[in-house]
This record gives sequence, structure tokens and C-alpha cells, in this order.
Amino acid sequence: MHDAGVSAPPSRLAPGLRTSLLAVLLLAILLLATDASDARPTADEARGRTRVVVLSDFNESYGSVHYSSNVDGAVARAIALAPDLVISTGDMVAGQRLAPPLDREEVSAMWRAFHRRVSDPLAAAGLAFAVTPGNHDASSGERFRLEREVYREQWLARRPAVEFVDATDYPFQYAFRVGDVLFASLDATYVGHLSHAAKNWLRDLLGKVGPDYRHRVVFSHIPLWPFSVGRESDFLGDPELEEILQHGQVDLHLTGHHHAYYPGYKDGVRYVSQGCLGAAPRPLIGTKEIPARSLVVIDFDPAGPVRVEAYAGPGFAQVIPRSMLPPRIESRRATFVRDDLAASGARAGPGGIPER
Ligand SMILES: [Fe+2]
Repeated sequence: MHDAGVSAPPSRLAPGLRTSLLAVLLLAILLLATDASDARPTADEARGRTRVVVLSDFNESYGSVHYSSNVDGAVARAIALAPDLVISTGDMVAGQRLAPPLDREEVSAMWRAFHRRVSDPLAAAGLAFAVTPGNHDASSGERFRLEREVYREQWLARRPAVEFVDATDYPFQYAFRVGDVLFASLDATYVGHLSHAAKNWLRDLLGKVGPDYRHRVVFSHIPLWPFSVGRESDFLGDPELEEILQHGQVDLHLTGHHHAYYPGYKDGVRYVSQGCLGAAPRPLIGTKEIPARSLVVIDFDPAGPVRVEAYAGPGFAQVIPRSMLPPRIESRRATFVRDDLAASGARAGPGGIPER
């Protein structure tokens, strides 16, 4: 015996019921389609809980008040990415000329040009902009005392709207928080080592408040170890600083000066060298290709991973795939392993990082 309620073909249904069933079916299809589109990551979901854009090495030749269109492109892209913070890892102006040294008006003119092209557009977009001194901005060499003085004046007038943890020596050596990330700027404009005072400051900071944060990021102009051709001797090379970064569970050390992007990993710390936006991009050690100008975007995901991606100029919309970068950067005293390869056995992937 048939169960008419189950097997009755639609053609036997009353016209009114058929219309109702059709409406229900259409509604179900519509809801399913809506669910499917909602399941796709939106731009906001792809964005981490905290997003940072890193820009670096903007300057042209000594004393120049000119910037390339790459600088404008990178600033526009940084604004479009709507980060919580923009960091500069130094060399914003073209100081440090020895003969003849630049006078106050020349140095001020360079900063006016930089603010017009970079700081002012970022400020108009409501973005916090945190800087660290480069050798061309504020070298700690005695001969460049005037440039350091002007650098301090310029940035005291443009303090970023962040929650400072220690602003005693802002805009040189200072610390602040954004979300659950601690950021520390080091005054590193000179190769060879970091001062004992600076190392003590960083050790104390990381020891006292570091554990209160989910992530710790240190940024400076000069890197700990070298990345690029022609800059093989321009690094801090300070084993004590390396130990402080490791012991303090620093997730990222962001640096400039080498004009080449590389997301490296060494002994528990991720070291990200920035590409330049201004003159003289340099090949990575062991390679011959001149890299594209680039900016870096860091997303701190709620679940823990920290994603790092670089975008190539002039549009700064195309990701630089890790497969285009060498698997390691080897120099006399250190080897960086590309971060995605260092993650074997840990939870990571392109742009990801092994979690502690
Ligand atoms: Fe530099």
C-alpha cells in the first residue's frame, strides 16, 4: 500500500499548494546561497585582530627633498589596508652627508618634504605612525648631533596616538602597545653593537611587562645580522642582543637599511628585513636579482599565528611569494632560514609563523 503523503507526484498537488512549495524551495535556495557567501572570508576576516604596515628606507641621494612615486604608491596602499599602526624602520630623509654637512634649514626642508608626502597623508587618514631612527635620519655619530636634534623636534611634534609603555626617550628608544602586542623601538643607527644601556633597557622592558602581551615586536633600522649584497658588514652582530630577543620571547624583529625584503627565522625569533621605497634596492646575499620596492603587512590573528606578507611596487597589491626568495641567507656569522621552511613540524604555512 502506498503512502500517498510521501509518494504523491507534484502534478497531483493542488495549484495553491504547488505555488507554496515552490516559494519555500526558492526561499531555501536563496538562504543557502546567502549562507555560502557569508562563509567566504570577508576583507575584515582576512585582516588580523591587529594589522601593521611597515614602510622603510624612503630616501634618495644626500640632501634630497625629492621622493619617488613608489613612496606615494606605498602610502596610498598603506591607507587602503586600514592598519592599526604604520611603522617606519628608518631612513626617511637623506642626511648624514659629511662634506659639506647639511645645515639646519637643509635638514628641516627634507623633513617638510617627508611629512608632505608620507606623515601628513597617514595622519589625515587617522593612522598612528611610529618611527625609529635610521643612519640618514639621526645617526648617533657625534658629527650628526644637529640631525639628531632636528629628528627629535620633528617627531616630538608628531607623537603617534598609541598607548605608550615607556616614552622617556621617544622618538629614539621607546615602547608602546597596540591591542595585545608590545612594540619596542631601538635606537640602532650604528653598526657593530647596541649600547649596554639600550640592551639593559630592552631586557628590563621584556622581563617586566613582556609576559603581559600576547606578542612582542622589536623594530630598529640596523639589523642584527646581514641580509643583502653590499651590506655584508652593516649589522649589529651583537650576541647579547640576540639572547635578549630570544629570552624575551620576541616574535618579530623588524629592520631596514638592507633594502631587501626577507622573512627570516633564526633560533626562535623571526627577523624581517624590509625592502626599500627609495634609492638602491639590493640583491639578497646569494642572489643577483634586484628586488622590487616593497612594503610589509603583518596580521596578528586572534588564534595566535602572525602572518607576514610583502607587496611589490609600484602598485603594492601583489604579494611577493616566498617561493621567489632563497630558502636561506647565509653570511659569515649567521644563517637565516626562510620562515615558512623553518616551520617544519610546527603550525605554519606561507605567511604563517610557527607558534611558540
Ligand atoms: Fe640606512
